[in-house]
Amino acid sequence: MFEDLIRGWDGEHVIARFDEPSSTWMLVGVHSTVLGPAMGGTRMKAYRSPDEGLHDVLRLSQAMTMKQAAAGLDFGGGKAVLAVPEVPAPGSPRRRDLLLRYGDLVDSLGGSYVTAADMNTGEADLDVIGERTSHVLGRSVACGGSGSSAGATAVGVFHGIRAAVRRAFGEDDLAGRHVLVQGVGAVGSRLAELLHEARASLTVADLDGERAATIAESLGAASTTTHHVFDTECDVFSPCATGALLSAESIPLLRCRVVAGAANNQLATSWDADRLHARGILYAPDYVINAGGVIHLAGYERLGWDDARMTARLEGIGETLTGLFDRAEREGITPAAAADRLATERIDAAR
Ligand code: NAI
Repeated sequence: MFEDLIRGWDGEHVIARFDEPSSTWMLVGVHSTVLGPAMGGTRMKAYRSPDEGLHDVLRLSQAMTMKQAAAGLDFGGGKAVLAVPEVPAPGSPRRRDLLLRYGDLVDSLGGSYVTAADMNTGEADLDVIGERTSHVLGRSVACGGSGSSAGATAVGVFHGIRAAVRRAFGEDDLAGRHVLVQGVGAVGSRLAELLHEARASLTVADLDGERAATIAESLGAASTTTHHVFDTECDVFSPCATGALLSAESIPLLRCRVVAGAANNQLATSWDADRLHARGILYAPDYVINAGGVIHLAGYERLGWDDARMTARLEGIGETLTGLFDRAEREGITPAAAADRLATERIDAAR
């Protein structure tokens, strides 16, 4: 299986190290370094098998290549997985030791892979990794990093929603537009605040029902159960939780005009972009609308941008999407296919 997965992948190289003391597979996928060092987060997760972790690292690293290219950043795509038997408690000595050994592995790659946060890893973990390697982005401000990128991701998604609303409804005023935010974690909760400030009508949903209820109350929003996110009537459905949620099963249920949210890998298969299109639903390609995170990390930590430059680049996500919607119409393709063409052209031009 390991071999089949790697043979079926079009990336540059995979590093697999078994960390004996923690029984963890450390897997790094360097998908492309054509535009620059492969950058992408480290996911810590208890998978059912190392194959499952490898599958994740391969597909996520490919998506990072497309994200960096579409965002116009001089980075390639990479991703890492720490396939742990069980996720060690934050701040525990076991976790710290694992992260230090992982930092050594990242360092040994000589900068071809630059790591950051992903599921179950955050600033504190990156600070530990940063004790062993400089090829890390998103450490805490106290440790010389730029901190969490979730706020920037939310701002980018907000601009993306406006661009999509403009295309779907002819004007980008969000006042009174009904937006359903699925997942009000680090990104979704900030996005909900921005939408509230823009006077959108909000519904929020989260697996953690208490969290959804608290946020709904503080913003005067409605909340719904996770079972009803797909069939709730709204103008914009904004997935900010997990991936692979747009599928042959869920798309027929949708009662929205726009899908525009932060989650990575929203389409279960590439056919699902066509399914959305056939239903007249405008889809903002995930890796374009959620690029605020990588823009934040690259801009602040590698390119020396100031806040004004960052603000302009995050606004630019809306302009990029508008360009993609235009291109999709012109070329008779879906916005997702237009995004793939844009990213591929940038990579091919750099070869
Ligand atoms: P988070 O872990 O802080 O929040 C996710 C929230 O979704 C949690 O509150 C969780 O309870 C909820 N959730 C999980 N499954 C759900 C379900 N089936 N239905 C409803 N709620 C559910 O994660 P974060 O950082 O807010 O990221 C959200 C999404 O955006 C993820 O898919 C992530 O990969 C993606 N993303 C995040 C970036 C960042 O800068 N943090 C950058 C680009 C993408």
